[in-house]
Amino acid sequence: MPQPFFVLAPMANVTDAAFRRLIAKYGRPDVMYTEFVSANGLCSKGLENLLIDLKYSKKEKPIVAQVFTADPKKMQEAAKIIQKLGFDGLDINMGCPDKNVVKQGAGAALMKNPKIAAELIKAAKLGAPKLPISVKTRIGDTKNDLASWLPVLLKAKPAAIIIHGRTRKELSMVPADWQTIKQAVDLAKGSGVLIIGNGDVKDLDDARAKAKMTGCDGIMIGRAVFGNPWLFSTKTDFKKISVKKKLKVMLEHTKLFDKLLGQDKPFHIMRKHYKAYASGFDGAKELRVKLMQTENVKDVERAIKSAFAKASADKN
Ligand SMILES: Cc1cc2nc3c(=O)[nH]c(=O)nc-3n(C[C@H](O)[C@H](O)[C@H](O)COP(=O)(O)O)c2cc1C
Repeated sequence: MPQPFFVLAPMANVTDAAFRRLIAKYGRPDVMYTEFVSANGLCSKGLENLLIDLKYSKKEKPIVAQVFTADPKKMQEAAKIIQKLGFDGLDINMGCPDKNVVKQGAGAALMKNPKIAAELIKAAKLGAPKLPISVKTRIGDTKNDLASWLPVLLKAKPAAIIIHGRTRKELSMVPADWQTIKQAVDLAKGSGVLIIGNGDVKDLDDARAKAKMTGCDGIMIGRAVFGNPWLFSTKTDFKKISVKKKLKVMLEHTKLFDKLLGQDKPFHIMRKHYKAYASGFDGAKELRVKLMQTENVKDVERAIKSAFAKASADKN
């Protein structure tokens, strides 16, 4: 791994197989994470459905699968499956604030249950002895509890800990606290556990600056990748990419989604990407309105065509 290394964040219904494949082509990070998947589900008859979320291609490697559960037995079993599927790492979600996840005692709820959290790391190692195990977490539940929470994780010795610099309660509503992420780096010194900082990183320059300020081993980026599969590229300057190219790649993304996930996932998942691709140019708003009504690839092609027809008519 280069130092610092850059990681694509897990984002449910965003960093799916289609978007990751596109990112692998236009701007590959050093590591990618899948969307989160229920470990309990992986150990049930519903396995087939969840395997859709764990689809990946070789080009996305190294790729880490993220799971959530509060049950160490299920974790061990799920870890075995993840290792068998050929992933390069396994991540345990200990930061998700979603009510359905927290209700199960999983995700962010684990910050209040250090005993189970440690057992989950142990179980993951037992189930997937060949894989590095990481934990993605926050700085606390309702307040900053890093000083007591991080040592629990460090003691269980995962390979890496990703710190999203907010509490569960803060969701994404306040700026990420990079000073606390810096403290995490200091606390982890000498432990051999890598610290990956996360929260509000805008681009690679910002990521490098935050790595320098905190001493983080790696930086994870999520939302900045919306509409920008070139985000992790060191060769492409996003500001110089033409509208035509952006829309061409948006269509490529749509076609990939249709091919890889169209049978299993609703098309409206693509619309949040459209909002990001179609922005910042003349006629973007009009195009966005059209894209919000699309139901398939053909509709998207038509919307793009009419945007170009209008642009050239305006020019003349
Ligand atoms: C739409 C969406 C879905 C997300 N899904 C997950 C998830 O499945 N697992 C996870 O650990 N974090 C998830 N997150 C949180 C991100 O991984 C990341 O921690 C957060 O967005 C902050 O980083 P950013 O400011 O770079 O986006 C999600 C965030 C968003 C916006």
